[in-house]
Amino acid sequence: MHSAWSRVNAVLTFFGSALAVLCVLTTLTDMLHAPDPSVNLRLTEVKRLAPWRNRYDQAVLSVGLEADLRSCFSWNTKQLFVFVQAEYATEKHGVNQVVIWDRIIRTPEEAVISIPALKQKYALLDRATRLRGREVNLSLAWSSMPKVGALSLDKRSFPVGKLPEEYVY
Ligand SMILES: *[C@@H]1O[C@H](CO)[C@@H](O)[C@H](O)[C@H]1NC(C)=O
Repeated sequence: MHSAWSRVNAVLTFFGSALAVLCVLTTLTDMLHAPDPSVNLRLTEVKRLAPWRNRYDQAVLSVGLEADLRSCFSWNTKQLFVFVQAEYATEKHGVNQVVIWDRIIRTPEEAVISIPALKQKYALLDRATRLRGREVNLSLAWSSMPKVGALSLDKRSFPVGKLPEEYVY
């Protein structure tokens, strides 16, 4: 019994499967794309390292950033969410990661970044102990949002040495 409904159903099922196959192919071809980004991050100055509300250490860093993430764009890339984070380890909490800057990049042209003195958007505060004398890494991380498929995250880390042992005002 071939009613109109079962035909419609068959057609819809066919398109559903075709779409699924297309999504898988898209993801596979995207996996073959090998990005080769270049990143350089450096700590140019510790502008301020001071107590905040008498409890926390707050740091204001001057960071230089050069990056070329054009190769992270494939035809399946919608946008990149790029962020700079400071990373340091404490006895109590293991590795802490604090985002200090971010930007959304929508085109390969915008993926060439050169900022000699990046303006910190978010505070670097340590809630638990202290930042003085901490060994710090600066990282540039980017989350790639595809048109089809799953998010992916990549990052480059740069050990920048210790923050000063004494407060800097
Ligand atoms: C800092 O970077 C080094 C080298 O990439 C790594 O071994 C270390 O675990 C990092 N430290 C933190 C706190 O992320």
